[in-house]
Amino acid sequence: MKLSSPDYKGMDEKQARDDFKKRLENYERAYQTLGEEDEEDGIQYCKLINVGKKVIAYNIQGYLAGQCIFYLMNFNLSPRCIWLTRHGESTDNLIGKIGGDAPLSGRGKKYGDCLSRFIQHQRQENEKSRRVEAEAGMAISPLRERTVAVWTSMLTRTKETVEGFDPKEYDIKHIRFLNEIYAGICEGLSYSQIENEYPEEFEARRVNKLFYRYPGMGGESYLDVIQRLNPLIIEMERMTSDLLIVTHRVVLRILLGYLMDIDRSKMPEMDVHLHTLYCVEPKPHGTVVKKYRWDEELDWFVEEPVDK
Ligand code: F6P
Repeated sequence: MKLSSPDYKGMDEKQARDDFKKRLENYERAYQTLGEEDEEDGIQYCKLINVGKKVIAYNIQGYLAGQCIFYLMNFNLSPRCIWLTRHGESTDNLIGKIGGDAPLSGRGKKYGDCLSRFIQHQRQENEKSRRVEAEAGMAISPLRERTVAVWTSMLTRTKETVEGFDPKEYDIKHIRFLNEIYAGICEGLSYSQIENEYPEEFEARRVNKLFYRYPGMGGESYLDVIQRLNPLIIEMERMTSDLLIVTHRVVLRILLGYLMDIDRSKMPEMDVHLHTLYCVEPKPHGTVVKKYRWDEELDWFVEEPVDK
C-alpha cells in the first residue's frame, strides 16, 4: 500500500522499500510510544494497528470518544468504488411535487436500465484488469472483491431504478435510512404551492435550510437526516466490496458531502442532478471522485468534470 503513495510514485520498488524503512526508523526516533507505563497518568488513547485489525483503547470516556473508536474500528482501505445516484426521473419529478412515493416515468425507467448495464460493464472491466494484474504478478495493491452490493431506499422510485439488476448477481437491499427527507405537511406539494399555502415556512426554510425542520408528524430537517444516516455511513465504511447506492436528493447531498469532505453548511445547496452517477474511490492517500452523466441519446454514461 505504501508503494502506491504519491511519495514513491515512479520510484524503483526496492529503493522505495528501503526509503520507507528508513522513514520508520526516523519516526521511531522522533515519536514517543504510548504504552502501559503511561496509563497511570489517566490519559485516554487509542492504538489502531494494521488499519483496524487490532485496536487498543485505553480509558476511553464519553460519547464522542467512544464513537471515534467505533468509527475507526469499522474503517477499511480495501480498493473499492462507492457508486451513488438519485433514482430515475419519477412522475412526481415531472410535475414538481416533493416527497411522496411516485413510480418512475418512462425516461426514469430507461435510466434504470442503462444504470444496470453500465455497472455490469464496469464490473467486467474490473474483472479484466484483475486478471491482467494477476497474470503480470502485480500484487502491489490488494485484490478487488468481485461482488457488488446495491442499496436503495424503501421508496418505489429507487426500487424501480434497480429492477434491471439480477438479484442472483447483486446483493440488493432496501434500507429505510436512505429514504428522502420527510416534508411533513408539505409532502406532495410543489415549491410554489408551499410558498402560497405556507409562506412563513417557505421563508424560514429559505433562510436556514440546514436547520429548518418541516412541520407536521415525522417532518425532518437536513440535520435530522444527517443524524439518521450515521449508522449507514458506518456500514458504508465497513464494506470491502463495491457498492451502489440509489437514493434521493437530500441523502445524496449528505453522503457525497461526507465522502468529499464538504462542510455541512454547504450541503443543502449542492448540485446533484437526476440521471447523474458518482463514483467515489476511498484511497489511502485521499478520495478520487468521478462523475458520469447519462446521455439519453447515446443511452450510456459520459464522464464529466466534478464541480467541488
Ligand atoms: O424534488 C425531489 C426531492 O427529492 C424532494 O422529494 C425533496 O423534498 C427535495 O428534493 C429536497 O431538495 P431540497 O432540500 O433542495 O428542497
